[in-house]
Amino acid sequence: MKIAIAADHGGFELKEQLRERLTTFSLTDLGTHSADSVDYPDFGASLAKRVASKEFDFGILLCGTGIGISIAANKVKGIRAALCHNTYTAEMARKHNDANILAMGGRVVDIELATQIAQTFLNTAFEGGRHARRVDKITALE
Ligand code: RB5
Repeated sequence: MKIAIAADHGGFELKEQLRERLTTFSLTDLGTHSADSVDYPDFGASLAKRVASKEFDFGILLCGTGIGISIAANKVKGIRAALCHNTYTAEMARKHNDANILAMGGRVVDIELATQIAQTFLNTAFEGGRHARRVDKITALE
C-alpha cells in the first residue's frame, strides 16, 4: 500500500512526527519541508492529483485545522478527503465513505491521537453494499 503525506506550515510538525510513527507503512513525503509559510491549496491539490491518478493508494494531508487542505483536495476529481478528529470518524470515513485521503489539523490533534487516527484510517476497509450506491452518487456529482 503506497501512501503519500503532505502538509502546509500549520501541519509541518505533525507531518514530521507522523513519519516517525507510521513506520509500518510505505510513506512518501510530498512536502512542505520546513516550517516556513506556504499555501495549503498547493500541497492539497498536488497530493490529491497523485492519489486520483492511482500513483498512491491513499493520502494524508495536514494543515493547521485540516479544513483548508481538505477543501482543496476535494476539488480534485475522484478524491474523497475526510477531515477526522477521532478514530470513530476515521473508521467511518473508510467503511461508509471510501475516503481516499485523511485530513487532520496540526493545531487540533496531538501526535498520539493523530497516530491512532491514521492507523485506524489505513487499516479499515470500505464496506461497500448500500454505501457503494451513495459513494457512486457523490462521484456522479463530479
Ligand atoms: C495557516 O495559517 C492556516 O490557515 C492553515 O494551515 C489551515 O488551517 C487552513 O485551513
